[in-house]
Amino acid sequence: MSDLALEIRDLRVAYGGIVAVKGISLDVGRGEIVTLIGANGAGKTSTLKSIVGLVPPISGTIRLFGRDLRGVPTHRIVADGVALVPEGRAVFSSMSVRENLELGSFLKREKAGREARLERCVRLFPRLGERLAQEAGTLSGGEQQMLAIARALMGDPKLILLDEPSLGLAPKLVAQIFESILEIAKSGITILLVEQNTRLALETAERAYVLVTGEVALQGSAAELREDPRIRAAYLGEDPAA
Ligand SMILES: Nc1ncnc2c1ncn2[C@@H]1O[C@H](COP(=O)(O)OP(=O)(O)O)[C@@H](O)[C@H]1O
Ligand SMILES: [Mg+2]
Repeated sequence: MSDLALEIRDLRVAYGGIVAVKGISLDVGRGEIVTLIGANGAGKTSTLKSIVGLVPPISGTIRLFGRDLRGVPTHRIVADGVALVPEGRAVFSSMSVRENLELGSFLKREKAGREARLERCVRLFPRLGERLAQEAGTLSGGEQQMLAIARALMGDPKLILLDEPSLGLAPKLVAQIFESILEIAKSGITILLVEQNTRLALETAERAYVLVTGEVALQGSAAELREDPRIRAAYLGEDPAA
């Protein structure tokens, strides 16, 4: 069996004539937290969408636990253990928190496992536990992000793809959500984290890839990249001359 949860080679993604991802390669080891960072429009979301088959690559390969995903439909990829938590959260606002969570496990037939996972989500996000009967649309942005992550966990994934979980949230909630991401990783789930908040991403992940206009410009351990002057100047808002 492959030691890699995810192995991407020379991936290219295009929308009509616009090439959004220009031949990137990246690896995510089993149980690792890897972050994909880069400015708006760099191709981060397109990469995540192509992993779950929502946008077909024009070339390149994507392997999930050693298995080539070419031609595999999204529902199969999800059933095989990949959960995408999309940008902007997308919870079902007129449904209750509990119903949103239950939807996350609709592929799983056994009731016992479902209840155990619901309990795990509530332990991880006590705020959701207090609001199970509440309509999801009435939650704060941070709580909706928690719900989106918890819903992904309800499907018992092996790999979670998180698309900008910090976007638009108050710092206190962001800190809580990133604590939870670390907890999730401790439970053995592999995480590919897309973030524009470079500082936070490099504090959370073990390794990082920096995307610039659809290409991997830099890669390495998060600790190395935190000290890299190019990263400090371009992404951490530090003056290189200082
Ligand atoms: N559905 C789409 N149709 C056309 N162009 C798109 C679409 N989605 C993204 N793009 C373009 O692809 C590029 C990469 O976008 P995206 O993957 O969303 O980047 P990021 O998530 O890093 O902000 C951008 O130039 C964007 O305008
Ligand atoms: Mg994006």
